[in-house]
Amino acid sequence: MTKRKIIKTSALTLVGLIVLIFGVIYGWSTIFLNKSYSIPLSEITVPRDTASIAEGERLVHIAHCGDCHNEHLTGGVFDNIPKNVATLVAPNLTQKIPIYTNAEIVRLLRYGVKKNGHSVLIMPAFMYHELKAESIGKIIAYLRTLQKQPTTPNVPSSSSFTFLGRLLIVKGEVNRIADLIAPNTEGKYVHCDTTGVSFGRYLAVSTCTACHGPDFKGETGFSPDLVIAASYGKSDFFKLIRTGVALGDRKDIGLMSHVAKKYLCRLNDHEIESIYAFLQTRPTQSEFKK
Ligand code: HEC
Ligand code: HEC
Repeated sequence: MTKRKIIKTSALTLVGLIVLIFGVIYGWSTIFLNKSYSIPLSEITVPRDTASIAEGERLVHIAHCGDCHNEHLTGGVFDNIPKNVATLVAPNLTQKIPIYTNAEIVRLLRYGVKKNGHSVLIMPAFMYHELKAESIGKIIAYLRTLQKQPTTPNVPSSSSFTFLGRLLIVKGEVNRIADLIAPNTEGKYVHCDTTGVSFGRYLAVSTCTACHGPDFKGETGFSPDLVIAASYGKSDFFKLIRTGVALGDRKDIGLMSHVAKKYLCRLNDHEIESIYAFLQTRPTQSEFKK
């Protein structure tokens, strides 16, 4: 072979290899994102009376759907992810909900499985999984009253991954939420009576775990272990949840202040008191660990 031919062949091989690598990464990540889940649909009673709809609106606030989907539920971009990795869109719910049946909304909230059978990313279905059926029914009742609105300006209609993002998927650094939830487990984890510590535990599991982790241990570099709440007096705790002002009169501790002021403030006195009672049972005690 002449020198020129060798260079040409090597260059072609290199290009071929690069195309192959791109193809494999693209193909693999697409298969990952498009995995289908066969979680059966189950019906639920959706009330229609105005009191239930109003309660549904309150529950949607406490579930802080608006923190990702925009406060008017008209769609938002998840901004914790760098743009060179992915643009993750929490879509316009005023347009999505009408194309979902009630049973499909239940499956989405409890198992993180979308209408098309694929898993959601980011959306904390593992937390909504713990909501009692009655609350999910009221949430749906309220969502059904939303009037169709245009999507928030500058929010794309769907999520997209860059090459770097797809590489992270191949490296196993992206979670499909549906993988975190075992099938047929609704109502299995949290005992939910309406009094005292066990009610507090139910509320904390179904409200705080999205950010503080499934065992309340916090997430390194993001949120603290909720054992920190044991250092709060009851009135300071109320102040944090209702106004976002943390112990020591810290008026803005970032996301927690925002989510408290905007969403968690809708927890009623009895609920905040119960969460407080639960969080006072230190992690060493059985109630916290259950
Ligand atoms: C932490 C952010 C976050 C929260 C909180 C959240 N979502 Fe989402 N949601 C998302 C993201 C991101 C998507 C798009 C996921 C995807 O396509 O992988 C999504 C998708 C959806 C979809 C559309 C699925 C589809 O078929 O495209 C619906 C409906 C939905 N969410 C409803 C809700 C409701 C109701 C709540 C509150 C009870 C909620 N979400 C809370 C982030 C969130
Ligand atoms: C949307 C995410 C999110 C949710 C939901 C959330 N937290 Fe937080 N929380 C945080 C983050 C993040 C911090 C760390 C402070 C910061 O930078 O905002 C924090 C901090 C705290 C702190 C410590 C404040 C301090 O003194 O520094 C307490 C106590 C707390 N959260 C309690 C709760 C309770 C109780 C719930 C449920 C009712 C809850 N949080 C739900 C994100 C959240």
